[in-house]
Amino acid sequence: METLFIIGFMGAGKTTVGRELGQRLSMNVVDTDEMIEKACKKSISSIFKEEGEAAFRQYEQRVLQTLAWPSTIVTTGGGIIITEANRKFMKNNGIVIFLHSDPQVVLERTAEDTTRPLLNEDRERQVTLLLNQRLPLYLEADYTVNTSFKSVDTIVD
Ligand code: S3P
Repeated sequence: METLFIIGFMGAGKTTVGRELGQRLSMNVVDTDEMIEKACKKSISSIFKEEGEAAFRQYEQRVLQTLAWPSTIVTTGGGIIITEANRKFMKNNGIVIFLHSDPQVVLERTAEDTTRPLLNEDRERQVTLLLNQRLPLYLEADYTVNTSFKSVDTIVD
């Protein structure tokens, strides 16, 4: 089995679905944000705060380029698709699955979360704006699965 790249907006369920899918298919699961945090020895929010988003995007690209592993599910940060080279890399090295969630569901799922640097003020506006900007890029994926109002098991099925 080749590499499966799971993409989608914050709160779409990429990490949860990726882990469950990994168990079902007996595949390894790696997460780009976790790898960046390990490599930098700090949290994503600290990287944003101390080094800025541009630096984070460079780490993200560098980490992704190391991840064309066979039989592996790669769960990604919501903004991985902003960088054209990342979209090309995923397309050329595996199957790209977009987990799509309605803005309302994203807002509910991220309501209590203070760890996402891009969602710190005026959440509703931020989510709508970013989702609209990114949607065409997410839709370049090989498959789209709507995750709104569905159980993890159903999404994985
Ligand atoms: C980001 C999403 C986050 C993380 C970073 C930037 C984004 O990951 O990579 O805060 O630009 O959408 P999750 O999608 O796992 O929250």
